[in-house]
Amino acid sequence: MDRVNFTINGKPHSVGRETCSDLSLLEYLRVRCELRGTKYMCREGGCGACVVAAARPGEKQGAVNSCLVSVTSCQDWEITTIEGVGNRLKGYHPIQKTLAKLNGTQCGYCSPGWVMAMYSLLKSNKDISMLEIEKSFGSNICRCTGYRPILEAFKKFASDAPKPDNYMLDIEDLNICKISGKTCRKSNCSESEWCLVEAHDAKEHQKIEIDLKDGRSFSKVYHIDDIFEVLKQKGDDDYMLVAGNTAKGAFPILEYPRVLIDICCVDELKGYHLDQNLVLGAGCTLNDTIEIFKKLAATEDNFWYLQKLQEHLQLVAHIPVRNLGSVAGNLMIKHKHNEFQSDVFLLLETIGAYMTILDSNKQEKKVTIREFLKVDMRSKVILNILLPPLGHDYQFESFKVMPRAQSAHAIVNAAFLYRLDSSSTVKEARIVFGAINPTFVHASKTETFLRGKKLFTNKTLQDSIEVLKTELVVEENPPEPSAKYRNKLAINLFYKGLLALCPDDAVDSQFASGGIVLSRKRPVSKAKQDYTTNPLIYPLNKPVEKVEALIQCAGEAPYSEDLPSCPHEVFGAFVLATVPKGDIDKIDSSKALKHPGVIAFYSADDIPGVNGFTPGLFPKIDYLYLTKEELFCSGSVKYNGHVIGVVVAETRSIAEYAAKLVHVTYKNVTKPVLDVREAMKFPDRKKKAGEHDGTSAGGNLFKLIKGQQAIFAQQHFCMETLVSVAKPTEEGLEVHCTTQHMDLVQMMISRALKMPENKIDVIVRRLGGAYGLKISRSSQVAVASALVAHKLNRPCRIILPFTTLAKAVGKRLPCYSEYEIAVDLFGKIQLCKEFLYMDTGHVIDEPLFLPVLDVYNNCYDKLRWIFLVFSVITDTACNTWCRSPGTLEAIAAVEFILERVAYEMSLDPLTVRLVNLNLTDIELIEMVEKVKHDADYAKRRAAVDKFNKENRWKKKGLRWSLLKWAPFYGQYFDVTMSVYNDDGTVSITHGGIEMGQGLNTKAVQIASHFLGIPMEKIQIKANHTHMTPNSLVSGGSLTSINVGIGVQRCCEILLARLAPLKVGLLNPAWELLVKLAYKASIDLQAHAFVSLFDTQKYEVHGVTLAEVEVDILTGEWELLRVDLLEDAGMSISPSVDVGQVEGAFIMGLGYWTTEHMVYDSDTGEVLTDRPWNYHVPQARDIPQDFRVYFKDKSYSEVRTLGAKSIGEPPICMSVVVPLALREAIASARRDAGKALNEWFQIDGPYTREAIHMHTETDCSDFKFKKKVNPFPF
Ligand SMILES: Cc1cc2nc3c(=O)[nH]c(=O)nc-3n(C[C@H](O)[C@H](O)[C@H](O)COP(=O)(O)OP(=O)(O)OC[C@H]3O[C@@H](n4cnc5c(N)ncnc54)[C@H](O)[C@@H]3O)c2cc1C
Ligand code: FES
Ligand code: FES
Repeated sequence: MDRVNFTINGKPHSVGRETCSDLSLLEYLRVRCELRGTKYMCREGGCGACVVAAARPGEKQGAVNSCLVSVTSCQDWEITTIEGVGNRLKGYHPIQKTLAKLNGTQCGYCSPGWVMAMYSLLKSNKDISMLEIEKSFGSNICRCTGYRPILEAFKKFASDAPKPDNYMLDIEDLNICKISGKTCRKSNCSESEWCLVEAHDAKEHQKIEIDLKDGRSFSKVYHIDDIFEVLKQKGDDDYMLVAGNTAKGAFPILEYPRVLIDICCVDELKGYHLDQNLVLGAGCTLNDTIEIFKKLAATEDNFWYLQKLQEHLQLVAHIPVRNLGSVAGNLMIKHKHNEFQSDVFLLLETIGAYMTILDSNKQEKKVTIREFLKVDMRSKVILNILLPPLGHDYQFESFKVMPRAQSAHAIVNAAFLYRLDSSSTVKEARIVFGAINPTFVHASKTETFLRGKKLFTNKTLQDSIEVLKTELVVEENPPEPSAKYRNKLAINLFYKGLLALCPDDAVDSQFASGGIVLSRKRPVSKAKQDYTTNPLIYPLNKPVEKVEALIQCAGEAPYSEDLPSCPHEVFGAFVLATVPKGDIDKIDSSKALKHPGVIAFYSADDIPGVNGFTPGLFPKIDYLYLTKEELFCSGSVKYNGHVIGVVVAETRSIAEYAAKLVHVTYKNVTKPVLDVREAMKFPDRKKKAGEHDGTSAGGNLFKLIKGQQAIFAQQHFCMETLVSVAKPTEEGLEVHCTTQHMDLVQMMISRALKMPENKIDVIVRRLGGAYGLKISRSSQVAVASALVAHKLNRPCRIILPFTTLAKAVGKRLPCYSEYEIAVDLFGKIQLCKEFLYMDTGHVIDEPLFLPVLDVYNNCYDKLRWIFLVFSVITDTACNTWCRSPGTLEAIAAVEFILERVAYEMSLDPLTVRLVNLNLTDIELIEMVEKVKHDADYAKRRAAVDKFNKENRWKKKGLRWSLLKWAPFYGQYFDVTMSVYNDDGTVSITHGGIEMGQGLNTKAVQIASHFLGIPMEKIQIKANHTHMTPNSLVSGGSLTSINVGIGVQRCCEILLARLAPLKVGLLNPAWELLVKLAYKASIDLQAHAFVSLFDTQKYEVHGVTLAEVEVDILTGEWELLRVDLLEDAGMSISPSVDVGQVEGAFIMGLGYWTTEHMVYDSDTGEVLTDRPWNYHVPQARDIPQDFRVYFKDKSYSEVRTLGAKSIGEPPICMSVVVPLALREAIASARRDAGKALNEWFQIDGPYTREAIHMHTETDCSDFKFKKKVNPFPF
């Protein structure tokens, strides 16, 4: 057979020799089938946007990452995509409807992936609890919502969901077999049929052999003999056994080898049996393995330990990867990349497993898991794994410390197996650590030392730690956490393991809690959204479902890259500089151009007009752009990742591959200055950007505190990256691109191509998240695609891969503040002098300092605050707007200053804040009182203090942050409203870009309110520069309000025109009124313009209280509860606004804790350029209890219908998390002997590493009992 056959949504598909080895199922779905409901971002199994459901031969339907699956691996698969789950024709699925109804979508780009993951989960297991559901989504990222509404929607389908909210009954399409009681894919099933054996299990499969288009050979085999047969025929010099094909998510494959042999259906590699050992087929997927382990742990006494193994395995990747990824595949990654911190290897080696390796002569060899690392695996297959029975005299414990709760490889993983006699004396010990160095496996010396020792004594503990220290040689491995931390972690996990296994009577209670893994006891999360509404003005102020929520959940809402393939389309990929700073000597594109499928390479010399993607001083508004940034580097490389040119090819993968073939030589290369703290020392890198003088100073100087604080960059991490599709048209160009600023795109294309603006149409339907990234940075991609389209007269699509984005494009700006603050006895500020240094990257383009100038002192005594802000140049990509740009950084700096005053003076941090409030911000006092009451503060404060006294290795923190935020600029937007005479429906076109903030929903609510017609009658149209020219940036949490002003104006214009008609007609129906108006020749289209004259000035206040619990031994922690009160004015759409608050707070949570940017200090290269190593928060990182309150009876301005900005202020309150963490750390430091008022400095995010390294934990303090009884008998 030379074709691979499968079905998609029930329809047969087939691929063969026309296919290339790198054609993924994702690309097949989107490009070949034009099923663009399935989205994507990372293409390495790290984001979940691409999840589809697949039933593989003989297996239950489950989620898979379509980006990891080669289409050639899909033989006999039944694939279901979002289009097949529910749609506008056949009706929407209950999961889609529930997610939409509960506001589980914002930008909606991630939504199809979530729906598919949940759909697959329910297909594979109907009887699933709320907790299991919450644990099941390590696979999916949502950058907008903060996860709470998604989890809430999905938990409705849990078997233990509270009635009557339990939606399980709605799942009519889940077929439960009458015979087996399990889910089943068959539509009909007679009683006599075997349900668990599918027809294709029984049929004899034919080997598949395909000579692929790109010169590779693909074989799908069903028997082990055939593997060796293929290798014999085709050679074993360059081959890969394709099992789940997921390893490339961990270690990317740039080019597949010459020979591909798909072994995922080889029977001999599947299943298990028990002889003396458990014999597990090496081809078992990780999820099958978990199921087998669960079953045997419950039934086989000597395999009790499998329960612990399966719990640990559930922390390996996530469900879709575990559905495909095999045990053998995992071990082979470790074989090839010894540094890989494989959890499978760790567990199997610890329990003393063996594996059987089969060679081409059919010789079987049994080796230990560790010995396997040394075996030459060429032409060999891992057949099975042998797991030994272990009696109850063995004890097992394992740990995996990760940068976030789920879906991340280990910082350090560790497993321990002890065989003890009845007096806890060690007969045998096996201690294995991962992520130490590529060759480290066992702590052999410690194992030997422990033999014959009583395990749970202080002496054994201390002595064995001394031995362990001698053999742990931890190596640096950037961007992984430091060797120093990993070294400590390994020792601490050794202690933690003993605490976990220690009998209760052998350990003091204050130490015992050190053995607990916080995430294991995390309950089902809960939440509350507390606001009042006014039904009299509904649909204004009404909590409604977002207007596009359902189509987003169904994959029917198109984004820029969903534009169907255009005839003759080409693809572009950027070529990036690989040196930190220097001059281009020569660009040699000849090798790339010779590569089959490559069409062209364009650099700065090929641009007919201006080489730029930002304009320099913006012609209309002086606060948007200051300096022109080059489209392609014209000679002087400013940072590693600087865009040098674009390679154009027939396919995306060829373009990306060929971009790496462009050879650039450089001269005058110098070491980069990457850190703002370093850069500010050079006068020519520093420029004063603004200042404020205090007007008075107090005279009661009690204490003077000097300090500094650095915070670093944050990647926007939009689920939709930067994309542009430019198409030649009869006039000029049509450009579909991911921009928040269409006018900029149109203007810069016009300048670059010397093409009049009126010949360029820019179209945006919606964005898949933006957070400021797409204000200016998208213009570079758009202008480049327009250049290619113009040059070749062919449509050009450029999709920036996440890795390119991370290297080439700027981020949230790092900041450094220095301050001197004089306070009186009560912590009241007498004078504060603060210098803020903002790292703009290699050029000062966007004036990121501007928003700061209104809020530099947050809500504290402005009169006594002297403030200077500087822009500082570093050798990095030009930083850009990022959710609450500048304001987050400035407000956080102030909150740290106030916290420090309280800390050093042993004062209550809340009291210190309140005594320093501005008179204009005293509404915060009332807000604080509300949170105190609603959050039961006094009781919880006492409980935290008590907890911290009673526990040495677990600590809690409970802290406040206060907020004053102000919008800082105005916008230009055209709004056009059209009423259709026949049915009275209304369409609106406006210049604001919908990117998840709910702008369109609010516009519809406002129109519905003023026109007095149902929301369903109103439709928002796509953005088009033809209809909405000159629109200013959508951003700054202003767009909804400004578009709302325009919509209101249009309504008023129309109503004024209709008013004379109404006279005499008694309350006419809208439809009739419109018809009559048409007959009376009344213009049914209205236009409004919103401009800088509509700029509003108001302030947004907020109060947040957060409680955390920290594992002092590891730096892991849980966010126990957050109470956040914000003054949202009179929210136009409260449920949308709650979503903005939660999403912003969680983005801030990531910024402060898990999102750690790492650069190579020599080359300036961004090392955290993949979801594999850049960790945004996930569903199990959010607060266990998240309560959001809107201030009651608040109203902003008439012009804004009483509403206030919503999307940005809450991220500024996320600083409460590091503040709470500080309290927990401080408590541990006190126990370690540090003075409680000795300030400790943590720059950048409070990662596991930063937290632990500041706790002053010393292993000499490790013990079981504080005082050892000298007379134990
Ligand atoms: C997002 C993500 C997160 C991850 N997180 C973790 C984690 O936290 N911890 C962890 O341990 N792992 C993690 N992994 C790795 C994951 O477990 C592996 O990708 C998976 O187990 C590989 O199995 P596979 O069947 O897909 O291998 P494939 O990709 O199909 O193959 C990998 C290699 O194994 C060889 N091979 C496969 N089967 C055999 C066989 N029977 N005999 C000989 N050679 C064989 C192949 O030739 C190939 O070289 C993660 C992976 C991803 C994508
Ligand atoms: S695109 Fe497949 S997981 Fe991200
Ligand atoms: S709604 Fe999830 S990423 Fe935007």
